[in-house]
Amino acid sequence: MKPLIIANWKMNPETLHEAQELLDAIGKGVHDLRDVDVVVCPPFLYLPMFQVSSFKFQVGAQDCFWENPPAGGGAFTGEISSRMLKDLGCSYVIVGHSERKKYMAETYEMINKKMLAVLQARLTPIICIGEKERGENKGELEKQMREILVKINDEDVARLVLAYEPEWAISSNTNAQSARPDDCKSSIDFMRAVLSDMFGEAKAEKVRILYGGSTNSKNISEFIKQGGAQGALVGSSSLDEKEFVSLVKNAIVR
Ligand code: PGA
Repeated sequence: MKPLIIANWKMNPETLHEAQELLDAIGKGVHDLRDVDVVVCPPFLYLPMFQVSSFKFQVGAQDCFWENPPAGGGAFTGEISSRMLKDLGCSYVIVGHSERKKYMAETYEMINKKMLAVLQARLTPIICIGEKERGENKGELEKQMREILVKINDEDVARLVLAYEPEWAISSNTNAQSARPDDCKSSIDFMRAVLSDMFGEAKAEKVRILYGGSTNSKNISEFIKQGGAQGALVGSSSLDEKEFVSLVKNAIVR
């Protein structure tokens, strides 16, 4: 399976002009790479500028609302539906990022509803799962998975992408610590075992599980080779075009 590298720009950059420059540079930098799938998730506002068919990467959003109302039924001020995102060319939507749990009080129930709306719109949800503190974490991972990954149609299970995102390793958190590839491996193996228990081994094997938390061009290959990750959800390293393009190239491990 090709590695999947997802750029999460979060609330960056500050201007349309800078967003256009970053987009063009990434577009050129990853243009000729064949053995890796790249997705860029900008803030909603910048999505229209991503409708350039010559780009070789796909586009995603960082969130969405859980309703997909028919025309005229959208009385949800300030929200964006999965169908709107699809119309703007998105193929992926990140749901349940830890920053949304922390600042917007998103619950597992809300994340579940968002994931189902994304699947219903035939987009791919990237579901973030991860513990708050470093240490024994398996119970926390399992609880999140069993509460978020419910009511999914059987045929949709293989379309899920999970991202193991230990909150203590996310670069913007004060006292962020580096995760080691073996931390990543043991959590990803555990998550795959929970998926197997929930949906059966054959379906669980098809779900891509990524790693996210302070990845960069230097450590990405270790998370893929030794850490068992099938790609990465990349925050701060996705805002520097040279660093991000090197990270994408180094994710291609043979
Ligand atoms: P980071 O962010 O790469 O800056 O640690 C990852 C994330 O929050 O998804």
